[in-house]
Order: sequence, then structure tokens, then C-alpha cells
Amino acid sequence: MFSLIPIQPLQSDKKPHYNPPVDVLRMDKIHTVVSGNKWFKLSGYLREAKEKQYSTIATFGGAYSNHIVATACAANLQGLNSMGIIRGERPDVLSHTLQNALNYGMDLYFVSRAQYRDKTAVQQLTDPLGKYYWIPEGGYGQVGAAGIRDMLKGIPLWEYTHLVTAVGTGTTMAGLIQGTLPYQRVIGIPVLNNDQCILSEIEALLTKADFAKKYEILTGYSFGGYAKKTQSLLDFMNQTYQTVKLPLDFVYTAKAFYGLSDYLQSAELARDSKILFLHTGGLQGNLSLPEGALCY
Ligand SMILES: Cc1ncc(COP(=O)(O)O)c(C=O)c1O
Repeated sequence: MFSLIPIQPLQSDKKPHYNPPVDVLRMDKIHTVVSGNKWFKLSGYLREAKEKQYSTIATFGGAYSNHIVATACAANLQGLNSMGIIRGERPDVLSHTLQNALNYGMDLYFVSRAQYRDKTAVQQLTDPLGKYYWIPEGGYGQVGAAGIRDMLKGIPLWEYTHLVTAVGTGTTMAGLIQGTLPYQRVIGIPVLNNDQCILSEIEALLTKADFAKKYEILTGYSFGGYAKKTQSLLDFMNQTYQTVKLPLDFVYTAKAFYGLSDYLQSAELARDSKILFLHTGGLQGNLSLPEGALCY
């Protein structure tokens, strides 16, 4: 079947490099800025904002947030204004992410880390008349998950026994679980140290019927926490690119792919298994690494 999203079989010397074979859903390739899972997570929110005749989208994120820049660009494409509530004081020099968001016309509003924790208070402060359409931080919610579930209708889903994704808010994983077929297993790999609560946040987006599906969280791959990295993670990214030509970002997809590599070695998988790894985007985040850290 033709898939609108490119699928890359991971090969070396024209043969599958992994056993069982791994294909990558290159969602990162669908748009240069609204890349990866963002296109699908945001589409329902933007549709709803337009239907309800809002003219401004507002959301939350950090200085390097893929979600912030993707929302700025997507809103701009839809002819909507946007505002980003940014965690932390305004720095003298803006990150490339925030500079790009500004270039797409997003207004940036900086709040202290303490203020940022109370999202409702920030909303009341910045939008006292309730004129903005608010997208939760990271696009978390039913609407975001539905976009991922619908995305699965456009790919040859039945070919795969396992679907694997990085987990931030868990919205993408929830969408995968919703759209998965009975014989498939969804594996989520958290990139934050949120092992205690992430499963319940994912399950809050599921229906009772989804609870019967096969899914699991693999922990131990945060590499110290959100957006933290080690030299071994960077080495792994370079090695992956050199062997199978897969460019990963250090915040999400590299950690998830590292977890998947371990899983392939340790889990006892049936011989007919075939894995689909979601490249959920985020490559813009690599611009914050020192020059020369990556070979791509
Ligand atoms: C590149 C990338 N991959 C994965 C994720 C995790 O997605 P989710 O928040 O839906 O778990 C994010 C965050 O949205 C992301 O920016």
C-alpha cells in the first residue's frame, strides 16, 4: 500500500540490519517545521480553533520546545495568530527555536518556572477575557491522540507486530494504542524522569476497550532527564546514522531508539515479528548541540 508518510526499512548491505526487521515511519519528513508527530497532534486543535472562530492560538513550552515552534508555524499556515508562554526568564539571546517561533509571528510571553507550574493562573493573567484557543503543553489530550490514531489509517499498519515511540506527554502513545490492531503491541519509551505518573497520564486518554490492548512502557532511557544527554548517547546517534542512515534527535528519538535496540536484544520475539519505529521529528533540537557533536 502507498503510504503518504515515507517508510524507511533499516538496512545495511541491502539486507535488514536488525533481527527482527525494523522499519521507520519518517514522520519527520512530512514538513520541515511542523515535523513528526506535531502535524498530527496539532491538526485537530487547529481545526477546532477555526470552527469555533478563534483568531489566536496559545500554548506552553520551553526554550527549545518542538511543540512551540511547530504551533507557531502551523498557526501561521492557517492564518491564525499565536502566543507562546515560555518557561523561564527571557534570555539575552533567544534560542534558535524561539527565534524561529518569533519569525512565524508568535508572541512570546516569559514566565518564571514557579509561575509556569500553575497553568490556569497564567491563562487568566494573559487571557483575562478568554479570547484565545489554548492548546495544552505538548499537545497533550484526546484531540492530539485522535490525530495520531487517524494518521495510522494512511500507512500499511497490518505489516507490523510492534509499534515503538518516544514518550513525552504520552499523547502519541495513546493514539497508537487507540489505533492498534489486536495482534500488535505498542511500546513507549519515556524521555523524562516521569516513570511514576506517565502510564496513568496515557491511560487517562484511553477508553475501556483500549485497556485490553497490548502496550508497555520501557523505562531507564531518559539519560538523566528531559533534554539531558551523555557522550554514549551521542556516540549511539552517530553510529546509527553511519550504519543505517537514520538521523535521530537527542531529546526524543535517539533515547527511544536506544531503548528499542536493547529491547531487540533482550526480548524473546517471535520469528515473524516486524517493528515499526516512529520517527516523531525533533531534529531542530540538535542545533543546540556543540558544532561537530554529530556527523550529520
Ligand atoms: C520529537 C518528539 N518526539 C516525541 C515526542 C513525544 O510525544 P508525546 O508528547 O505525544 O508523548 C515529542 C513531544 O511532543 C517530540 O517533540
